[in-house]
Amino acid sequence: MSGDRKDDHVRLAAEQQASGPRRNGYDDVAFVHHALDGIDVDQVTLCTEVADAPWPLPFYINAMTGGSDMTGAVNRDLAIAARETGAAIASGSVSIALGDPSVAPTFRVLREENPDGFVMANLGVERSADDARRAVELLEANALQVHVNAVQETVMPEGSRSFSTWPSSLERIIAAVDVPVIVKEVGFGLSSGTLRRLADMGVAYADVSGNGGTDFVRVENERRPQRDYGYLEGWGQSTVACLLEAPAGAPTLLASGGVRSPLDVARALALGARAVGVSGSFLSVVLDGGAEALRDRIQEWTMHLGSLFALLGAEDLTALRTTDVVVSGATAQFCAARGVDLTTLAQRSLGRSSNAR
Ligand code: FNR
Repeated sequence: MSGDRKDDHVRLAAEQQASGPRRNGYDDVAFVHHALDGIDVDQVTLCTEVADAPWPLPFYINAMTGGSDMTGAVNRDLAIAARETGAAIASGSVSIALGDPSVAPTFRVLREENPDGFVMANLGVERSADDARRAVELLEANALQVHVNAVQETVMPEGSRSFSTWPSSLERIIAAVDVPVIVKEVGFGLSSGTLRRLADMGVAYADVSGNGGTDFVRVENERRPQRDYGYLEGWGQSTVACLLEAPAGAPTLLASGGVRSPLDVARALALGARAVGVSGSFLSVVLDGGAEALRDRIQEWTMHLGSLFALLGAEDLTALRTTDVVVSGATAQFCAARGVDLTTLAQRSLGRSSNAR
């Protein structure tokens, strides 16, 4: 594993952002507008609670990078923006630093610049229980993200092709660490069946990280001389499809993958996410304008999100989950095929005391 690969990931993921926001599953999700339901923005609280901690913002800077000089500098900027806004933040996979202590500072910077913030360490599911403990120690992390990325490994030139031991490896990691574990995909989604398996294993948090944003098939395929896996682009389920089909009893849900705007954050929260992770959209901001630009962007999203809550008549996350949401297009077709009822979702406000519509 090398720092060059980390640089490639950042460069190729940023290139995907260059053409601007793309249509994705979020475009199939619309709030029903009720013209008299609005409240005052100062009645709104955006705070949430994740992994036993209060988060002032319901969106966070999701796992990206570390492991080279360039990505260490990116992490410094991400950490400063997190510190100045109160956003929670995740590291990229720290595997590389566990094997090569000389690059540990490119991850440690996330904690050093943000000593009081909520910081998540990130590691692949195939790693040992001891590695998981070391990953948490490295960042004095508040939680551990464990990524499950079989699609990425399949296309990655140096990737693994052995996935059968992942469930048992995950169980060992969960048993070994004493911070909350968040199992996450990397942009291909967690199905209802996977969420059920995770719940059975005792996983408390899952970040569904669905498709529609950064596509790691595309990233890894660009790193192959033959570029021979192009046909797999678009693999997986969208973030909204994952949220919609999540079974009762699933781990507490976080949502990432394809989040382009404060409206996408509100959509994911309304569909049940406890918090919403953003990688690609924030990466291009930080690469173009550094920590200050990302701080400004996060503050802008926070302000907009408060306004959207007020417009929707939701004073907090719980109230947002009683808004009427209509799902159409390919996402509705997916839900029909998977036996997910969408009519209740479109009429949730009937149960609200203030609205006898
Ligand atoms: C990622 N992602 C990621 N995820 C993870 O669990 N460990 C990792 O090391 C990385 N590395 C990484 C590098 C870069 C440059 C990007 C953009 C992303 C995946 C990320 O956390 C997220 O799941 C997906 O990118 C989908 O979200 P977006 O990018 O569509 O917001």
